[in-house]
Amino acid sequence: MPENHDIEAALKYHNATKHSYASVRTNPHFLDFANQPLPFKIYPTLEPLRLPDEMRQTGVAALSAIAESVPAQTNAAPDLSAITQLLYLSAGITRQRKYSGGEIYFRAAACTGALYEVELYLVCGELADLPAGVYHFAPAEFGLRKLRAGDYRSVLVEATGGEPAVAHAPLTVVCTCTYWRNAWKYQDRTYRHFGWDNGTLLANLLAVATAWGLPARVVCGFIDDTVNGLLDVDSQHEVAFSLVVLGHGSAIPLQSSADTSPLGLETVPLSRHEVDYPLMREIHAASSLRSTEEVPAWRGHTPPSSFPQPTGPVFQLRPLSDDEMPCDALEQVILRRGSSRKFARTPITLPQLSTILDRATRGVPADFLDPLGTQLNHLYLIIHAVEGLEPGAYFFDRDRREIECLKQGNFRDVAGYLGLEQQLPADAAVDIFFLADLRPILQRFGNRGYRAVQLEAGILGGKCYLAAYAQRLGATGLTFYDDDVTRFFSPNAEGKNAIFLVAIGNSVKRQSS
Ligand SMILES: Cc1cc2nc3c(=O)[nH]c(=O)nc-3n(C[C@H](O)[C@H](O)[C@H](O)COP(=O)(O)O)c2cc1C
Repeated sequence: MPENHDIEAALKYHNATKHSYASVRTNPHFLDFANQPLPFKIYPTLEPLRLPDEMRQTGVAALSAIAESVPAQTNAAPDLSAITQLLYLSAGITRQRKYSGGEIYFRAAACTGALYEVELYLVCGELADLPAGVYHFAPAEFGLRKLRAGDYRSVLVEATGGEPAVAHAPLTVVCTCTYWRNAWKYQDRTYRHFGWDNGTLLANLLAVATAWGLPARVVCGFIDDTVNGLLDVDSQHEVAFSLVVLGHGSAIPLQSSADTSPLGLETVPLSRHEVDYPLMREIHAASSLRSTEEVPAWRGHTPPSSFPQPTGPVFQLRPLSDDEMPCDALEQVILRRGSSRKFARTPITLPQLSTILDRATRGVPADFLDPLGTQLNHLYLIIHAVEGLEPGAYFFDRDRREIECLKQGNFRDVAGYLGLEQQLPADAAVDIFFLADLRPILQRFGNRGYRAVQLEAGILGGKCYLAAYAQRLGATGLTFYDDDVTRFFSPNAEGKNAIFLVAIGNSVKRQSS
């Protein structure tokens, strides 16, 4: 089995799961609706503990909550009311819609295919109105199922090699991803979706934490087997992908012998049968960490990105002033969000675009982003209709807070093609592509850097969604033709890989029938 530092595994997975004009035409895959997976993980033998219905509003402006974070050492612990909000506004059911084949339960954060492969678990000490334990969040019942009673946080301290935030965390949320629930539609490419869909969810979760005054930190460095064992997930089907530390308190006492023996709990099968895609399990195994020595060496020290001197015209970001900045509350904005299904070909303004870029890229507190404010993904734009800017291809220099025009032109048709021949990226006002130079990232973080780069793109994309909806614009995540994207932005993007795409513009409202 390749080890984390044998980075050919990540490159192999990435190359094997690229979309191209030819690959989508030669793929015989079809959606087997008779075998569609359940959208929920159900433990039939455990009664859920209902979460409170009433929602406390923080009233904090979404555009502040997505841009800021609470200093790491701020003493704070979430109570049940805060936990309820954190769960509801990141993974709760916020809308439902009937269709000919059944009903779709839409969640607070965008997710590829509305398949919702990310599950949330809580690992907490004694909290106000919530006893210490390990819990699974059940969005369908809006409740928690207790998997283990007692304080198991020391298991996470051990699994993360004593990560300082985890070692002081009143609560850690563990995000897992379930292969089949997403692979039913997206096959092998699902492992990329784990990062994207976990990331959009984390954009919401981090913003809600900030609004509640809770320090939060994303942790990707952990011993996989230990965390999966604590939750007792079957890692052939479901795997821990990220941890989010919430709050800060006194150091967790280390227990030498927390009993994490298997629980043997029954869960309802997702489908009549599942199709295996071994490539995903291979990249997961190859990006796993296995020893307590490996983890502390893994985190921190993000490789620096240096951007070449601009050669084209540059434009400073011009975010809205404080007076002009919409202050719609985070709760309202999350509930308002929904991926645009059609864009009007009407312009947005440069201050609107600048506000999105500025607020979404102020830094993510994560163990692979050190110091705070570093970033793995680079943002490239195709601008179709932004007042004050010529249509064309642009590069966003995050350090200088300016965008450089790489080439001018009307690229609506090209953008439609690059976004997997869909209308949405052709009609948007701007398409934001996330590209990353994978080699230095993998050289520093091993194959696990691949998880980090996908997750970061999902978080930044999720922040773009919220920044757009806070300004009453629309947004949607999109998939793309990998190498054609790099070619389009080259020579600037030479050697980089396409990671994520989000389109932004003015949504055309759905006609209600
Ligand atoms: C990473 C990502 C990629 C997506 N790709 C596409 C896409 O290629 N085409 C599309 O129409 N919608 C796409 N979507 C939108 C999802 O279909 C949408 O999020 C999902 O149906 C849930 O609906 P909601 O976002 O309105 O809550 C994408 C969403 C995400 C997060």
